[in-house]
Amino acid sequence: MGLFDTFKRDRKTHTTLNQKEDSAPSDAEAPNVLVADETAEFSADAAKDSAPEESAPTGAAESEPVSTETESQEAAESAESEEESAEPGYRPIKTMADKKPVTHVIGQTKIIAIINQKGGVGKSTTAVNLSAALGCNDKQVLLVDLDPQGNATSGLGIDKSQIHRDVYDVLLSDTPVNEAIIPDVCKGLDLLPATINLAGAEVELVNEIARENRLKSEIGQLRGTYDYIFIDCPPSLGLLTINALVAADKLLIPIQCEFYALEGVTKLLDSMKRVKSLLNPTLDIFGVLLTMYDSRTTLSKQVAEEVRRFFGKSVFDTMIPRTVKLSEAPSYGQPITEYDPSGKGGQAYFSLAKEVISRG
Ligand SMILES: Nc1ncnc2c1ncn2[C@@H]1O[C@H](COP(=O)(O)OP(=O)(O)OP(=O)(O)O)[C@@H](O)[C@H]1O
Ligand SMILES: [Mg+2]
Repeated sequence: MGLFDTFKRDRKTHTTLNQKEDSAPSDAEAPNVLVADETAEFSADAAKDSAPEESAPTGAAESEPVSTETESQEAAESAESEEESAEPGYRPIKTMADKKPVTHVIGQTKIIAIINQKGGVGKSTTAVNLSAALGCNDKQVLLVDLDPQGNATSGLGIDKSQIHRDVYDVLLSDTPVNEAIIPDVCKGLDLLPATINLAGAEVELVNEIARENRLKSEIGQLRGTYDYIFIDCPPSLGLLTINALVAADKLLIPIQCEFYALEGVTKLLDSMKRVKSLLNPTLDIFGVLLTMYDSRTTLSKQVAEEVRRFFGKSVFDTMIPRTVKLSEAPSYGQPITEYDPSGKGGQAYFSLAKEVISRG
């Protein structure tokens, strides 16, 4: 058990991994130490702003309501039908030979990098939950975890210590991409995982031929197999991020509703322009997403206005609210579509998925 495994919780029983199941709380709302602490932290914030979090209206809540009942039922059924071979709390690591047949005709594949070199703005949260919400909307989605932190991988309930081949092997060891993909992690969602091995890639790629094109040539082969391929980028503008900029058709830029929101965005846009002029002429912004929006604070509203002034129509109508459920879900290895589909975080990602589909 690793240092942080105390915090990893079983996604079916919602117990901590070293907690006995028979003494476990029986539903997701039951208190446990970590959840209680997190709730206390957020409640403290809420108290400061003198309004209870759950009663706060959000931009997302204002968006068109989306039916999630069937989606959450389907997601739960598919989770239950999984084999029981994985470590407790983790999903089984399947191979492409086990992949469920795709029943719909795949449209033109869109490759979208979720990018912002600023850390902690909601890239991985968006990568996991938007991908899962699109999967629930009968889209075939591949999520490429391009961050050595592997947050998207663990957030989807994959035990990184059990991964034999990851995105590092695809980029640097000639492993065919299909051998590294874990299929059907959730409904409609496959994952190209990352482990800490990827940390060496920035340095190793420097000496490689066509180093900026590695990811493009690997995931380019998958066009026609998925409706969407999302790339969860690391918080830097190094070679891994450049690989994502070269491989992507479009960029989704999450911006956290806080004071330094637009700091560094100019640098990101400069990098986009340079890659566009030299390596990927059709690269463009797909959308800008306001994350961790707190409608009770004037600051959130001001930041949202400023971002909308700066980016205009590129900004999605949906704003992702700050909610405890979104921060809890990864510790259960579940996207919000499984953990709390009808809460305001779940509704926001379903609403975003609809907007993404409507943007083509
Ligand atoms: N809408 C939200 N409400 C509450 N917490 C959130 C929300 N979105 C993200 N978080 C939390 O904020 C932290 C940072 O989010 P996340 O990991 O998605 O950011 P990131 O941009 O991927 O970070 P990094 O740059 O390190 O990769 C995480 O602890 C996550 O659970
Ligand atoms: Mg991340």
